Amino acid sequence: MSEIVGGIFTSHVPGIGAAIAKGLQQDPYWKPFFDGFVPVHQFLEREKPDVAVVFYNDHGLNFFLDKMPTFAIGAAADYRHEDEGWGIGGFKPFVGHPALSWHIIEQVVGDEFDPVTCQSMLVDHGVCVPFELCWPDAKAWPVKLVPICINTVQHPLPSPKRALALGRSVGKALESWPGDEKIVVLGTGGLSHQLDGERAGHINVDYDKFCLRNIVADPEALTQHDTLDIVELAGSQGVEILNWLAARGALTGSVRELAHNYHVPISNTAAATLLVENHATVHA
Ligand code: DHB
Ligand code: FE
Repeated sequence: MSEIVGGIFTSHVPGIGAAIAKGLQQDPYWKPFFDGFVPVHQFLEREKPDVAVVFYNDHGLNFFLDKMPTFAIGAAADYRHEDEGWGIGGFKPFVGHPALSWHIIEQVVGDEFDPVTCQSMLVDHGVCVPFELCWPDAKAWPVKLVPICINTVQHPLPSPKRALALGRSVGKALESWPGDEKIVVLGTGGLSHQLDGERAGHINVDYDKFCLRNIVADPEALTQHDTLDIVELAGSQGVEILNWLAARGALTGSVRELAHNYHVPISNTAAATLLVENHATVHA
């Protein structure tokens, strides 16, 4: 049987990719952030997952404002990055897992979600930067990828409740997957940040701490705010917490936090990393 070994929640700021390319991990600005990945590396070394299911938002590389799916699930045999204009690139190609993707799609459509299914798809910094953070020394990515996109860009956005429910549906699919892979779930983006407009640079430490305190044990607590509340609280890109909520939903077993790190600021962002283990609960 397959096994959901845990979840990794992380910021995906493009500047992190540039810092990695320049080898700045020990630089005083970056060190407090990169140090948060030591327990993540130990966990991945110990668990050696085969597949990563990644909840993230596309920022205009694959979907632009003219065509913006609320939810989209990759079902391609491979994925690659393309220049997004951030001055980052050179990311290794990703091997997909079409059979698992379709199994997930069957489950979520059965649960009355209506995702766009993508048999070809580019993946942006929302996937590539977290992979670089998780597997910094890999010659080739050691996991297959199933990318799941949530619209956090163009309103109306899905509600936090809906994002959590999507994640739970994906988790059901992972539980019933007959393969024998070890699966790790990633949720990327956040925490509070706003890149543009009058409130550019907005960060809300209290709201971020509220999310970090509750997302493991009581994710429903995060659904008390609607997406416009979250824009108000966490900034217009702080709504990327939807990706974290969906990833949390996909961890269907008994979950326990192993480590977290919170550091302000990285670029314009309150940067956070959270590592969670998941043990399957036995169903009667
Ligand atoms: C930044 C953060 C993001 O989430 C993103 O997608 C792009 C840039 C930043 O803080 O620089
Ligand atoms: Fe982002």
